[in-house]
Amino acid sequence: MSQIDWGAGTYESTAADLLPAARELVAAARIQPGEHVVDVGAGTGNVALVAAGLGARVTAVEPATRLREVIQEAAGARDLTVVDGTAAAIPLADGSADVILSNFAVIFAPDPHAAIAELARVAKPAGRILLTSWLPGVMDQLVGIVATAVREVTGGSEATDGQIDWHDSKVLSELFGAYGFEVSTTAKDLAVTAASPEDYWETRIADHPLGVATFPLLEKAGRLAEVRTRMLKVIATDWTTPAGEVSLPAQYLLVTAAR
Ligand SMILES: C[S@@+](CC[C@H](N)C(=O)[O-])C[C@H]1O[C@@H](n2cnc3c(N)ncnc32)[C@H](O)[C@@H]1O
Repeated sequence: MSQIDWGAGTYESTAADLLPAARELVAAARIQPGEHVVDVGAGTGNVALVAAGLGARVTAVEPATRLREVIQEAAGARDLTVVDGTAAAIPLADGSADVILSNFAVIFAPDPHAAIAELARVAKPAGRILLTSWLPGVMDQLVGIVATAVREVTGGSEATDGQIDWHDSKVLSELFGAYGFEVSTTAKDLAVTAASPEDYWETRIADHPLGVATFPLLEKAGRLAEVRTRMLKVIATDWTTPAGEVSLPAQYLLVTAAR
């Protein structure tokens, strides 16, 4: 189960940032009308809605109750079913999906090995699985500022047990290869923009589900203001134009596993 509630706060502004990657993911899957497409960790439905627009029969799997409601509302008359589930517990029959897609979502599975086994179970024998994951860089650096402070406050260590590098094509080839998949990867750019560093903080960090989950802790420990200052400084120094606008040059890996 996801350890944070992705329905808390406002995930919608980040979903808008990720929409170009969702479109790339769907395009790479070469979906045919009538195919059964499963969107794992569907969020607000970025991938599910685009795939349904191509005539696919879509199942959106999403653990957060509020986000399932958002998808349901946006689905309208499209052939889109929304279900509760996680990457390691998909409520679908063996071999029932032509295509499984996951845009920056399966990467949050607490047990990646179980998640990959579950994706392989649900995919048809000739099915394909496509996912996106961040490449090391901007996003790591920003999330790392908050995560490091949280670890310092809680005394926790970096949780690496059982985790995998979702951006390492060798690791993915081995893990998916065990289920007969061949993996190919492409690096992609995704520019994330905001009106100013302060705007980025407010709309993408403070009210993001991860911010909502961690800020009370930091505030209680008297660390929140310092974390904010540090992040704004990094953004202002490295990724803000002379006109004051933010443009984060994020990069991600588009992964295709086919058999
Ligand atoms: C960064 S968001 C991406 C959402 C969506 N795919 C998009 O393109 O906007 C991460 C999503 O993964 C979901 N998630 C978290 N843990 C998960 C898990 N173990 N299995 C499947 N989805 C999970 C969250 O609820 C959230 O919707």
